[in-house]
Amino acid sequence: MADPAAPHRVSWHHSAVIYEVYLRSFADGSGDGVGDLAGVRARLPYLRDLGVDALWITPWYVSPMADGGYDVADYRDIDPLFGTLAEAEALIEATHSSGLKIITDIVPNHCSDKHPWFAAALAAGPGSPERARFWFRPGRGAGGELPPNDWTSMFGGPAWTRITEPDGAPGEWYLHLYAREQPDLNWDNPEVRAEFESILRFWLDRDIDGFRIDVADFLVKDPRLPDVAGWPEDAPKPWEARDGLHAIYRSWRKIIDSYPREGLLVGEMWLKPLTRLRPYLTGDELHTAFNFDYLGTPWDAARLRAVIDLTLTSIGTAGPWVLSNHDVTRHLTRYGRAGTGGGWHPDPPPPDLALGTRRARAAILLSLALPGSAYIYQGEELGLWEVEDIPDELIADPIFERTDHLVRGRDGCRVPLPWQADAAGFGFGPAGPARTAGPWLPQPPAWKSLAADAEDGDRQSMLELYRAALRLRRTRDRLDDDTLDWQDTPDGVLAFRRPGGLLCVVNISGQDIALPPHDAVLLASADLADGKLSPDTAAWLS
Ligand code: GLC
Repeated sequence: MADPAAPHRVSWHHSAVIYEVYLRSFADGSGDGVGDLAGVRARLPYLRDLGVDALWITPWYVSPMADGGYDVADYRDIDPLFGTLAEAEALIEATHSSGLKIITDIVPNHCSDKHPWFAAALAAGPGSPERARFWFRPGRGAGGELPPNDWTSMFGGPAWTRITEPDGAPGEWYLHLYAREQPDLNWDNPEVRAEFESILRFWLDRDIDGFRIDVADFLVKDPRLPDVAGWPEDAPKPWEARDGLHAIYRSWRKIIDSYPREGLLVGEMWLKPLTRLRPYLTGDELHTAFNFDYLGTPWDAARLRAVIDLTLTSIGTAGPWVLSNHDVTRHLTRYGRAGTGGGWHPDPPPPDLALGTRRARAAILLSLALPGSAYIYQGEELGLWEVEDIPDELIADPIFERTDHLVRGRDGCRVPLPWQADAAGFGFGPAGPARTAGPWLPQPPAWKSLAADAEDGDRQSMLELYRAALRLRRTRDRLDDDTLDWQDTPDGVLAFRRPGGLLCVVNISGQDIALPPHDAVLLASADLADGKLSPDTAAWLS
């Protein structure tokens, strides 16, 4: 629990840099081609030396992997693909011994259709308490052959699937806002609430430092389940940000605060504008929620400044600044295109990767100079780009099937990391007889030069830029202060000073600019020619 006697003490996560480990694609210790806990454990020294403060591990639970682990069949055990519960406990301990914190995903909106609760619901029949843990409804139409309402799944197609009753008759429908293998839980049901409170305790008892809450804004539904046809585009949907969420997160916060280890609850909420996050961040619910407005902002000085200002003035907590994650096109690729904002593109124009790299280098200096915490998505520190030519037959993201191959989905940002330039599969897995399969998605041959060992020690590399920035960030600034002072600049240039003295300048103007008066250049995203900052570069000055 926070120590009230320590007057200026801020929590560790206030200014932490948290590294997202997308478990399937980080590092493979067993040799089966899929990332796992042994792989993470072996790479702890890399993560410590990178200079991050904490890890977020994506779902490690028992799962049929219909959505890469976001379809959980047992929240209290580890999937054999990833390891064992004992290995998870050992990883938590080893992470702490490395001086890092570790949070994990919790997936409360839905479980897997292979979860025992769902099997029990299918067996128990209409009107049963087992079905009341989910959203089962009779269909519409004379024979119940039409879905109960017009909601569509976030992954495409209807949000309802019809089941066959135990007696073989066509039966009720159940709601799934994602894939059909991910039935939505009914959070009006006290049993669901009690179960998740118990799951949180299970992991807190194992010293986990917190949770990234998956789809944190969708848990509570309008029980009338109204059709949404004709609703204004910007009207909150009947499953989105409902008042009932507050009670859930208040109870979670009480639980996490009751443990001696200072915990973190970070919500995944794609609410726009980000001012809609504010009600959840008032002090007794979530600590933070990802700043997806920042992620989706195009590479444009005025728009970046506007979203930074909006964050600092309106949500009462700075950050967390995030440029990429396992659900969006990697920012290096986005920044290499004309439309640099977030989102999926059905038929993307080819990116200019050199331009994207240049901008990504500047963008990380911007993100890490801002007050508050920041997230790094695995591989961005190597300068990885979105892989957009994965052969159709290898695509695993359920979005591809559910959209009749219209949207290729998110596999392009989930390609296994390259660790060693000269090893098979770029060292994603072990060499020798232990290796039974190559990486589960093919890596571009050009990633050879982006392998961690190729970049190690190369002053020009993305990896060394991240390391240098994180080192400086740790040693220099008053990180507990959520303020910055904007400096007068020409159009297209962002410049601000932090209370500790750091001056960050980002040139998005399209022309060389002279550096403002300064004592020293601490770090720059590209070489400074004649003391000038060229387009799409950034510098930290003192
Ligand atoms: C979140 C996850 C995403 C997953 C979805 C359904 O958005 O980040 O990967 O597919 O929830 O659980």
